[in-house]
Amino acid sequence: MQLFGIDVGGSGIKGAPVDLATGELAAERFRVPTPRPATPDAMAKAVKELLDHFQWKGPVGVGFPTIVAKGKCKSQSNLHKDWVNVQIDELFKKTCGNDFKVINDADAAGLAEMEYGAGKDVPGLVVTVTLGTGIGSGVFHDGKLIPNFELGHLRYKKHKPVEKYAADSIRKSKKLSLVEWAERLDYFFDYVGRICSPDLVIVGGGASKKWAELYPLLNTDVNLKVAETRNEAGIIGAAMASKGMQ
Ligand code: BGC
Repeated sequence: MQLFGIDVGGSGIKGAPVDLATGELAAERFRVPTPRPATPDAMAKAVKELLDHFQWKGPVGVGFPTIVAKGKCKSQSNLHKDWVNVQIDELFKKTCGNDFKVINDADAAGLAEMEYGAGKDVPGLVVTVTLGTGIGSGVFHDGKLIPNFELGHLRYKKHKPVEKYAADSIRKSKKLSLVEWAERLDYFFDYVGRICSPDLVIVGGGASKKWAELYPLLNTDVNLKVAETRNEAGIIGAAMASKGMQ
């Protein structure tokens, strides 16, 4: 069966039909740049452009880069302040006509990684981490998602979220070497280890592309594995979230 997934990110909105039997994209993904400013109306139009590209009329699963409770945006994160308290699923339906199921983007990526990737059949506490514009996290206990864990918002300085210190976007903007980035990631992973003692942390996003060089530079005691679903996890997991809407 084919479902449709959209991964809304700080820099791009990406989507594709997904074959849930294989956990793979059923067509090449399409990307629309995230409008700036990333206001609700501008972003809803970008989502419509993406769906029009595929002429997709069915239900749609969306991974959205803020706290999402029952389809409502509960934080600004890296988007526009007007998003806070917007009922995202209703806004998208009004603009596009489709039915939407919206969950947090990192929770979506985690769902895919737990079903088709490095988290498959891993018991206990598994944390999936996506290093991108921010730091997203998905937390699973015995394979079941505990939604909206915001581990990227642990502090590294008074009032400063650790994602502003260790995300992939910071590595790029501060031109950090891999050694410098690894030091910052150690701080983050050790912190996660201290507060929730995960059995496994699965690392996706920017770090997964550099894993072979990066992993030997990390000193954390936390048990780390690289994500297997790589870039497409956000789209695949978003499509999974729409299961049952057909
Ligand atoms: C947001 C999270 C999101 C992550 C990755 C963070 O800034 O607070 O909700 O999952 O970025 O996009």
